[in-house]
Amino acid sequence: MSSVRNPGARRRAGSHPSLAVLAARLRCPNCGASLTPAERALACARGHRFDLARQGHVALLPPRRRNARGDSAQMVAARETFLGAGHYAPIAAAINAATRAVVGRVTDSAPSVVDLGAGTGYYLAALMEELGDWWGIALDASAPALRRALRAHPRIAAIACDVWHQLPIQDAAAHVVVNVFAPRNGHEIARVLSPDGALVVVTPTPHHLQQLVPALGLLGIDPDKQARVRATLSPHFEAVAHRAVDFDMTLTHGDVQALVSMGPSARHLDPDDVRHALAHLPDDLRVTASANVDTFRRA
Ligand SMILES: C[S@@+](CC[C@H](N)C(=O)[O-])C[C@H]1O[C@@H](n2cnc3c(N)ncnc32)[C@H](O)[C@@H]1O
Ligand SMILES: [Zn+2]
Repeated sequence: MSSVRNPGARRRAGSHPSLAVLAARLRCPNCGASLTPAERALACARGHRFDLARQGHVALLPPRRRNARGDSAQMVAARETFLGAGHYAPIAAAINAATRAVVGRVTDSAPSVVDLGAGTGYYLAALMEELGDWWGIALDASAPALRRALRAHPRIAAIACDVWHQLPIQDAAAHVVVNVFAPRNGHEIARVLSPDGALVVVTPTPHHLQQLVPALGLLGIDPDKQARVRATLSPHFEAVAHRAVDFDMTLTHGDVQALVSMGPSARHLDPDDVRHALAHLPDDLRVTASANVDTFRRA
């Protein structure tokens, strides 16, 4: 990309070189044009301008569209605590391995990974380390999550958007799309993925956190989840690889509280009820983590 070799463009994006490199791959939500770095902002040739938040992420939303409800500041802080302790490191390793297996065909000089519902950027940062000279675009609705994603790695740009709508990414501009425990829109993923690229999707299996579901009243996982995900992606994608990631974690009550607070059950459980239920359980709990890592190519 021309901006990779253009240090002036890097300077115009202020302290976020990732945005300078990645701006041309982003899409103006008003008119679809590509974006260029301006002073603390991104702008398109037609004059639409999107200011950077103080923390460095940028919202690319169509006019008058309010963003989707992303994870709250509390959920994001809990996610950072839990993931930062390394409990889900085997999932990051499986995503790295799945991605490594499909990037051989990519020839772009500045290849990019788009993470749909990136959260704190934990998995995207691990991929940046794994892949070396790749760039990452974290998409999420949650501003507190994006602030962390930006800090997670210097080659990550963080964009606020609603992944159910048109993604703020140019056609075929992503070489890999990853989607970990987060919403996905198959039609849009197919549009933004380059023909030589691949999609890596991580979904929980019904065994995920199985010891905690009845004990704490967590939301269970639909046994047909993987089949439903494949069916919704099938018009656009074909499955090319599958990895099962199953491992046991030893968690303290504090770990479990963070785990509950970062997930979907946080929206319907009372933290006091969780504390009371935990008091009846041993302090070092064996808890199963279980996920499917599925890789797809464009059909
Ligand atoms: C369960 S978290 C997973 C985060 C990250 N992938 C991880 O595994 O650590 C789901 C993420 O999707 C984001 N999200 C939910 N609905 C969204 C939407 N409509 N558009 C963009 N992001 C959304 C949330 O803010 C949250 O960060
Ligand atoms: Zn525009």
